[in-house]
Amino acid sequence: MPEASSPATSADAATGAVPRVLSGIQPTADSFHLGNYLGALRQWVALQDTHEAFYCVVDMHAITVEHDPAALRRRTKVAVAQLLAMGLDPERATVFVQSHVPEHAELAWVLNCLTSFGEAGRMTQFKDKSAKQGTSGTTVGLFTYPILQAADILLYSPEPGEGERVLRVPVGEDQRQHLELTRTLAQRFNNRFGETFVPPEAHIPPGAAKITDLQEPDAKMSKSASSPQGIIDVLEEPGPMRKKIMRAVTDTGTEIVYDEEKKAGITNLLRIYSALEGTPIPELEKRYAGSGYGQFKKDLAQIVVDTFTPIRERTYALLDDEAQLDKVLAHGAGRASKVAARTMEIVRDRVGFVGRGH
Ligand code: AMP
Ligand code: TRP
Repeated sequence: MPEASSPATSADAATGAVPRVLSGIQPTADSFHLGNYLGALRQWVALQDTHEAFYCVVDMHAITVEHDPAALRRRTKVAVAQLLAMGLDPERATVFVQSHVPEHAELAWVLNCLTSFGEAGRMTQFKDKSAKQGTSGTTVGLFTYPILQAADILLYSPEPGEGERVLRVPVGEDQRQHLELTRTLAQRFNNRFGETFVPPEAHIPPGAAKITDLQEPDAKMSKSASSPQGIIDVLEEPGPMRKKIMRAVTDTGTEIVYDEEKKAGITNLLRIYSALEGTPIPELEKRYAGSGYGQFKKDLAQIVVDTFTPIRERTYALLDDEAQLDKVLAHGAGRASKVAARTMEIVRDRVGFVGRGH
């Protein structure tokens, strides 16, 4: 699967064909974190300039584990506000909530019936999560989670004749296997029922695809597994943000050099620094040759604070006007529904469901 693929080329511009992009994120925390931002969300914003973009907050995925309805409602709104605050423009990108477009569940059912039990059981995220929770604490929804994700993506497959038939999915490294399953299901559907879906391409940013925990630099920064000290939240206040970076685990040496094996902590901080400032890592190594970890961390903390402060302020401003947020969501749901309804019409026909008549 290609790594971060090229944006729309000049050929696209010449033919007027714009490739599509789709991604989703769960509203399962009170804030997104630095890993989400660098691994995925920053790409979402950039790709809206060159692609026809569909971005959804996947609230149906969020109920695959036990949840509190009031928290889900609040977190869905906070998620949307953060996406807009990061720069998604609801006029250019279709920003919507998954449950507003019931075709996601409908296509998931069809794809469930094309996925073997063994295939679903090989998904490593499912294996990890279900091992932690035990079979009686694991829902069937969690088992079929990747198939709902495949439906999220394939519903927005461009039709033949709709320009360049490309569907890119910006995500972090941990989603690669789910994307592979989606490609397999697209091809299987096409083989059985005729050419319908475009197998999507993962768009994984080199360098920032896996940001690690500040306290456990060998583990992924994760809202479910990281301790509060290991994770930087987008909506966090500057004070705690700085503290966490200053206290990030580093090895006992003093040199600021990239070494995944021996210096996982500093390597992670270098990746974050490089991604946020846009400076290649070798240049940072040169800049900090001879200075200690203290100065490096202090400068990095400042960059993180400068990146997230405006996003935090805009998020809270957007949350103050709920009516406006609801309007944005209604607009997004309308646009997404048009595409989803058309895809489902084709799918129902191809699988042999009888039309309802008029
Ligand atoms: P999640 O928080 O697991 O719902 O992930 C949302 C998006 O952020 C997905 O595209 C993930 O691949 C990405 N992501 C999550 N954690 C990280 C991380 N530590 N580093 C890079 N990307 C991440
Ligand atoms: N499983 C993804 C994650 O945890 C979220 C997701 C759901 C998604 N549907 C999607 C990502 C469709 C990309 C495309 O991050």
